[in-house]
Amino acid sequence: MTNYDDRIMTGEHLDEDEAFAELSLRPKKLSEYIGQKNVTDNLKVFIDAARLRNEPLDHVLFYGPPGLGKTTLAGIIANELGVELRITSGPAIERAGDLAALLTNLGDRDVLFIDEIHRLNRSVEEVLYSAMEDYAIDIIIGKGPSARSIRIDLGKFTLIGATTRAGSLSAPLRDRFGVISKFEMYRPSELMSIIARSAELLRVETDEESMSELALRSRGTPRVANRLLKRVRDFCQVKGSGRIDMEITRYTLNSLGIDEKGLEGLDRDILRLIIERFGGGPVGIDTIAAAIGEERVTIEDVYEPYLMQMGYLHRTQKGRVVSRDAYTHLGLKAPDMSADAQISIFEEDFPDE
Ligand code: ADE
Repeated sequence: MTNYDDRIMTGEHLDEDEAFAELSLRPKKLSEYIGQKNVTDNLKVFIDAARLRNEPLDHVLFYGPPGLGKTTLAGIIANELGVELRITSGPAIERAGDLAALLTNLGDRDVLFIDEIHRLNRSVEEVLYSAMEDYAIDIIIGKGPSARSIRIDLGKFTLIGATTRAGSLSAPLRDRFGVISKFEMYRPSELMSIIARSAELLRVETDEESMSELALRSRGTPRVANRLLKRVRDFCQVKGSGRIDMEITRYTLNSLGIDEKGLEGLDRDILRLIIERFGGGPVGIDTIAAAIGEERVTIEDVYEPYLMQMGYLHRTQKGRVVSRDAYTHLGLKAPDMSADAQISIFEEDFPDE
């Protein structure tokens, strides 16, 4: 299993992100937030409207691959509303009582952010329904015949839920969100702006060419872009001139095993496995996970979105299939694909089975 601490490409949180937060690389205002225009343009209206009416913002659900700035945007929303933000995650809330403790501490219009909300357990989720709908919860006190239910009124809070997989959310939970926003991968030009902003905050000198190279190899993800920037800064301070240029950028990326399309070792392992062991696919995700030694969800949430975005991998009803471009990228000769495989590619990108 890959050690998360050694893996630079993952969109998942590493401790270093917290260090980043301390350094204030995360934007605090909507005007500083780059990209995701579809999401932010609408949110700006909803935030302004809520403020005008002096009401809580409706509950918001963010979904999309990890590392695209869902937590950052939740922080910005709380900041723009001028309210408190509490951050937690689905797996951290083990019992209904844990959620009750969180909810009863929220004031009017405060924001509760629940990351990985699809991982809430059933009993906790049920408490959330009435909290979201009626700003109240019913809790059972005592056991057996003397048990009774009491209703606790809550502040009129806003829940912001984030998930990498909207399809895993139960319908009753999904239906209780008034705003549902999908996060897309960033364009290289947007990533370049994010890198330029971060470089300035980190007080490291760069040039356009190097930033463009980093942007192209950051797999559409600001979290990866910021992490790569920090690694190039390390290399340039130890081995280079102290200034980020193309030479040290390429040197760093090569040292980290990141190729010119932003693929890392495990991305290439997945493609090579499908090609060499399964004739290019189709092959089931569980088979891939077992052969690679990674968890299925990690492959689905962290690796596949970018491989699909690049057009190297397709999800079909019969399993995963690689494209001709994947062969070319790996320097392999693509076979004449059977009509069957080609048809599957056109039925592409099925939601998770
Ligand atoms: N840092 C991480 N995500 C960002 C974004 N979307 N805009 C600006 N800075 C960021």
